[in-house]
Amino acid sequence: MPLRILVGTQWGDEGKGRIVDLMSAESHYVVRYNGGDNAGHTVTVGKQTFKLHLVPSGIIHPHTIGILGNGLVINPRSLLSEIEMLRAAGIEVSPTRLKISFGAHLITQGHIALDKAKELARGKGQIGTTGRGIGPAYTDKASRSGLRIFDLLDLNQLVVKMRMHLEQVNQILLSQFKAEPLALSPILEEMLNHARFLQPYIADTGAILDQALRDNQIVLAEGAQGILLDIDHGSYPFVTSSNVTATGVFSGLGIGIRVVESVTGATKAFQSRVGAGPFPTELDGEMATRLRGTGANPWDEFGTTTGRPRRVGWLDGVLLRYARRINGLTDLVLTKLDVLSGLETISVCNAYMDEQGQKVDTPAMGVCELERYQPVYTQLEGWQENLTGLRSWTDLPEQAKVYVRFVEKISGLPVSMVSVGPERSQIIVVPRE
Ligand code: GDP
Ligand code: IMO
Ligand code: MG
Repeated sequence: MPLRILVGTQWGDEGKGRIVDLMSAESHYVVRYNGGDNAGHTVTVGKQTFKLHLVPSGIIHPHTIGILGNGLVINPRSLLSEIEMLRAAGIEVSPTRLKISFGAHLITQGHIALDKAKELARGKGQIGTTGRGIGPAYTDKASRSGLRIFDLLDLNQLVVKMRMHLEQVNQILLSQFKAEPLALSPILEEMLNHARFLQPYIADTGAILDQALRDNQIVLAEGAQGILLDIDHGSYPFVTSSNVTATGVFSGLGIGIRVVESVTGATKAFQSRVGAGPFPTELDGEMATRLRGTGANPWDEFGTTTGRPRRVGWLDGVLLRYARRINGLTDLVLTKLDVLSGLETISVCNAYMDEQGQKVDTPAMGVCELERYQPVYTQLEGWQENLTGLRSWTDLPEQAKVYVRFVEKISGLPVSMVSVGPERSQIIVVPRE
């Protein structure tokens, strides 16, 4: 059963990219199944840092084959510039190494214009989207009027469909948003060029993966975003438009469910959120600045895709248990433990207080109405040592070990690894007690 799944257990940016990079060392296929270039996954290998938005993070290992599944929405312009970036960095990306499902949907300049116009119109109710056209592309998919990667194979038909799509977009931009219409010709021309380039990459990726799994090859599914941004299970409406969770893997790849070996949850040792929506353990003031950083370090909490400062807060065990349930997690990898060094005490939320003053382990309605709850904290002793040079569990300060074991206790899951820096080698395997 060689399908391994790696998902984010919070609001994204848990360090999925760097964990996928590690897990890719023994994977044959590295695959994305949801989202688009709203994702920003960072992989640091030696002096090189890669920020990946569409291409699976595991592509950095030269032996892997990358797959973009049918569950994605793909902006060809972003994909091409990412392929160029990787090639310039010496990573081979060719049709033999990267395959794109014919069933994935296209993001056009029309979707991007609509995303931006809709956000503006929302005013104070803004979601804070990444502005990448994700919502409008999935809207077209669900309303059965989308363009698919398949449509890139027939250039004549592509022009007809694109023209119809852009004319509709222009009508909406004008009538609903009083926004400037888009000029069609340059968009059509660009899409045709992209189509010519991408045609050799297009494949029936579900069939390829099915064969690979039958041959006992290891397939690693890389989630984008985090569960709390899932369209069905996240803090709606402050969510993205795809199924982020492990269940999205099967519909997003076109494979059956019997092949799962593990479902690992990437979990940051504290929490962050970029964009609007509830965040029970959110901090402000000095402690927030301390956890976020100032931007001086590459790993400080500023969006990989948009550069926006991320909101930050303490780890939330209530939401972690929710992530375990919805994803069927088998283990956690705890990232950024090094960032907690130097704190006197560390707070961890393990329950909520509702408006009646009742302590609850689980909110009544999932993650709806999270703003009604106050976090109940357990205080743990901090540690002063710098963890970034440590590679073995026995070398970790006692308080850091207590922290990791506490996360295991409140989540009900084993922590298999902790990371103590962004670089590939900055990882510690956690022994079973
Ligand atoms: P993703 O979207 O889940 O892949 O995460 P991002 O790449 O958007 O954000 C995670 C950031 O934290 C990146 O800058 C990583 O290089 C960095 N990072 C990952 N793990 C660690 C860690 O253990 N310690 C530190 N200091 N940085 C880390
Ligand atoms: P990775 O894969 C963090 C957030 C946006 C916004 C909401 C909807 O790097 O963890 P969208 O553009 O998807 O319609 O925006 O989702 N968001 C992310 N936040 N990490 C991400 O990806 C995100 N992808 C989308 O900020 O709040
Ligand atoms: Mg990210």
